Amino acid sequence: MSAPAKAPTTAGGRETWTSSTGFILAAIGSAVGLGNIWRFPGVAYESGGGAFLIPYLIALLTAGIPILFLDYAIGHRYRGAAPLAFRRLAKRAESLGWFQTALAFVIATYYAAVIAWSCSYFIYSFDLRWGEDTLKFFTGEYLRVGDPEISTSIVSAVALPLVLVWVAVMIVIALGVTKGVQSVNVLFIPMLAIAFTGLVVRAVTLPGAMDGLNALFTPDWSKLADLSVWIAAYSQIFFSLSIAFGIMITYSSYLKRKTNMTSSGLVVAFANSSFEILAGIGVFATLGFMAHQQNVAVGDLEGLTGPILSFVTFPAVINQMPGGNIFGAIFFASLIMAGFTSIISILLGVAASIQEKFGLSQKSSAILVTALCAIPSVLLFSTTSGLLALDTVDQWANNIGIVVSAIAMTVLVVWVFRKSDVLAGHLSAVSTFKVGRIWRFLIGVLAPIFLTVMLVDKVVALVSEGYEGLPQWYINVFGWGTIAFIVLTAVIMAAIPWKGRDDESFVAWPQLEEEDR
Ligand code: PHE
Repeated sequence: MSAPAKAPTTAGGRETWTSSTGFILAAIGSAVGLGNIWRFPGVAYESGGGAFLIPYLIALLTAGIPILFLDYAIGHRYRGAAPLAFRRLAKRAESLGWFQTALAFVIATYYAAVIAWSCSYFIYSFDLRWGEDTLKFFTGEYLRVGDPEISTSIVSAVALPLVLVWVAVMIVIALGVTKGVQSVNVLFIPMLAIAFTGLVVRAVTLPGAMDGLNALFTPDWSKLADLSVWIAAYSQIFFSLSIAFGIMITYSSYLKRKTNMTSSGLVVAFANSSFEILAGIGVFATLGFMAHQQNVAVGDLEGLTGPILSFVTFPAVINQMPGGNIFGAIFFASLIMAGFTSIISILLGVAASIQEKFGLSQKSSAILVTALCAIPSVLLFSTTSGLLALDTVDQWANNIGIVVSAIAMTVLVVWVFRKSDVLAGHLSAVSTFKVGRIWRFLIGVLAPIFLTVMLVDKVVALVSEGYEGLPQWYINVFGWGTIAFIVLTAVIMAAIPWKGRDDESFVAWPQLEEEDR
């Protein structure tokens, strides 16, 4: 499928997706990412295995899908990236838009680094360059993790693919919504689905696969009493669906006026969770094979979470597998495709925010913003201290930043600016799946209460126990510093005047009515 010669535009001159399929593929592309392959299996395993599916599904139904709809409604009704959309919703809401944009920006800086590692590992798969000791290779030879907590020495093996990732992102964003982002997704999402299904089929037919699946799906019910498991489920859902980052607001702002939004949302949410579970099955079947080879129980394997799972444990399994190089290459290619379709969604959101605020052209804001994000990304995450920084920033951005953003968004929209009626009406006017009282209860009451309890628990834990035994100054700089950066950006950006707009120009799109169908 190729992009049409001329991108269609709405009356307002805003570029649009060419069809709802284009939008759905792009939204799936944003949702399905490293979070599904690299984060979910480990989080699920650590948080009670099969029992994790309960908080996971509850989080999906009570917060994930309702907030996804909220993002769509805001983006579509107020037609802008997060800052403009919130500015149109209410003058004082603009800084929330910048909070979300800054959070997305921070995530992009380290997300790109993981895609860069995947690029290197894709190539290493062919000759199994990581050798026997895959942990030593990853942290030693490849990342060259050193002693000092902050180092400025750049590792070229990481910096090179990282720069390439950023150049590719820049090109796609500069090409725009239809020619750039939509085309990449139309190509990559089907490829990813085929490649990954192939991997999973191969994985479940390996000897020992069943033991791996049992390890993942055997429920540990006692974990349900642990609040941190619920936090893990909610943050996984937010991260995974790309909600409360302003990204889905931006994506839906490019929808045509008459779009069946809630149905698209259900398709996206279902596809994302299916992919997540599929990834869990693939990863754990493979680990079952490894345990089988080593004659140990899956639970006794080490390194079942985070970066270690994909970049240390997986290479070790690949070593033992007949035809492992092909399996490895497809696995890392899947990570690259999944990650790339997500990072372009983030950068599109940030670039659109800047474009609208400063009245820039689409191309210049794309180039400016990608460069601004690439610089700290390379300087921080391709150094010998990059791994530690990445883990710490991720912990704060994902467990605190995103939860604060979701609470602020639901409370402000529903209670302070009282827009839930208007937004429910807007969604229902053109969608087959109508939303009403239940939706408003979920976003207005249940989600904010749940999220606040979780946030308090998490903050107390981080303040009283610290994180991974790191020195306090380090936590202050990379953990709380990340949050401070996001808050400051939100305040400063909202204080800067809009270029070429006066207060009267911030009008919402007229309410969609039944007859608009
Ligand atoms: N949803 C993506 C993933 O699961 C990550 C992402 C987060 C994308 C935030 C956009 C915004 O990997």
